[in-house]
Amino acid sequence: MEFSELIARRYSVRAYKPDPVEEDKLQRVLEAARLAPTACNRQPFQFIIIQTAGREAELRRIYHRSWFSQAPLLICACGLRELAWSRKDGQNYVYVDTTIAMDHLILAATNLGLGTCWVAAFDVEAAREVLGLPNNVEPVAFTPLGYPADQLKSKDRKPVADLMRHEGW
Ligand SMILES: Cc1cc2nc3c(=O)[nH]c(=O)nc-3n(C[C@H](O)[C@H](O)[C@H](O)COP(=O)(O)O)c2cc1C
Repeated sequence: MEFSELIARRYSVRAYKPDPVEEDKLQRVLEAARLAPTACNRQPFQFIIIQTAGREAELRRIYHRSWFSQAPLLICACGLRELAWSRKDGQNYVYVDTTIAMDHLILAATNLGLGTCWVAAFDVEAAREVLGLPNNVEPVAFTPLGYPADQLKSKDRKPVADLMRHEGW
């Protein structure tokens, strides 16, 4: 897909078909995440690939919407804070690095006809429990990964003029 078309085509998919995600497509989206840039090239993240079949009720504890566990796969992007680069003032970039990698994954998925939806409003404690995450592993965001069963609606966005400015406030 042409890049600007890809950007326009990605949307938050909130209904999924049960069709499995082919292993080579999964590997391709993970490869896109792997190639993402990270501060100081620290790569301070891990992606957990979760098979949803039979675990729907348990996974719904993490995020209560029914579509969350409707796709065959769920991916949890986790940050490893102690591996991430920190700026001189102490600002740690683990969320930035993990988010960029997740966005690579999401755009690669769109390019392969797969649907995704960023989910940040999950229950962190439930995620820790269900996935057995150690304390040093921070769940940053989830996305289902599967074939869309809904369609792109129109994009509700502010005009560019509201989002950009030339120097000077
Ligand atoms: C960091 C982040 C967190 C989000 N968390 C949620 C979420 O918890 N639940 C949800 O349904 N959508 C979530 N979204 C999706 C947004 O609502 C969605 O991207 C936005 O409304 C624009 O719609 P679009 O993705 O279809 O273009 C999140 C998006 C981002 C970028």
